[in-house]
Amino acid sequence: MNLNSKVAIITGGGQGIGRALSLGFASYGASVVIADINDTGAQETADMIREAGGTAFPVHLDVSSEASVQALYGAVIEKFGGVDFVINNSGVAGPMGPTESLSLEDWQKANAINVDGMFLMCKHAIPVLRARGKGVIINISSVSAKRALIGRANYCAGKAAVIGLTRALALECGQWNIRVNTICPGAVAGPRQDAILQHAAEAAGITFEEAAARKKKNSPLNTFVPPSQIAEVAAFLCSDSAALMTGQDINVSAGAWMC
Ligand SMILES: NC(=O)c1ccc[n+]([C@@H]2O[C@H](COP(=O)([O-])OP(=O)(O)OC[C@H]3O[C@@H](n4cnc5c(N)ncnc54)[C@H](O)[C@@H]3O)[C@@H](O)[C@H]2O)c1
Repeated sequence: MNLNSKVAIITGGGQGIGRALSLGFASYGASVVIADINDTGAQETADMIREAGGTAFPVHLDVSSEASVQALYGAVIEKFGGVDFVINNSGVAGPMGPTESLSLEDWQKANAINVDGMFLMCKHAIPVLRARGKGVIINISSVSAKRALIGRANYCAGKAAVIGLTRALALECGQWNIRVNTICPGAVAGPRQDAILQHAAEAAGITFEEAAARKKKNSPLNTFVPPSQIAEVAAFLCSDSAALMTGQDINVSAGAWMC
């Protein structure tokens, strides 16, 4: 895929899937803005891209703050003159627990990032992409938007909201040649998955390796999804090969949870 001379903002690029997205887009020639609340992680990703000969620009971002989102777009326009792709990947897994034990604060804490953050990033992307004459937004949801997880009501509801937001925006923004799609990852290998497996192992009194082997069996391919696979699908969705794809939610789950 050729993303030469394109500018991509990737939120949550400081680790995990966001880092893989950043490395992947840079490898296809895009200039990558790594926007994260974790400045150290964002800087590390930027260093990795630069060492490989790519262009990277780390920017501090709190997606739940409208002022921070506006400052991000301002900084990117000043640096690159515009934006082609916005990949909204930042998200949090918790707080977790049975719904009756979740406080309103727990609910709001997750969804301030998983839902409000997506809304703010999309809202302020629209005039920026419209000025470019075309653009692509990709919102990272989860298969748990479609197949619920126990003890994750706030997360599942928030990720389902991301799909609704994406569809509404695809309808609204097609007139400006802006495409908006969702990627729904399954279980992706990385720091977050390791923490979830550790928790599952302790709860079931088994080893980390046993918990991993059990979970992999959800996939007919018997594997977790490498984060680079999310990057490959995102790059395809941004490319002209996907010029007529908008409003879609694409599972990238190694066949786990076919929903
Ligand atoms: N890992 C999985 O198995 C999996 C599965 C389905 C969906 N997802 C989704 O994919 C996305 C990335 O997941 P991951 O596994 O890489 O998670 P992760 O926890 O490893 O990384 C999330 C990133 O988001 C950043 N972030 C957190 N709060 C932020 C904020 N307020 N503003 C800006 N950045 C913030 C973090 O600093 C971090 O760099 C998330 O939206 C997640 O819900 C992950």
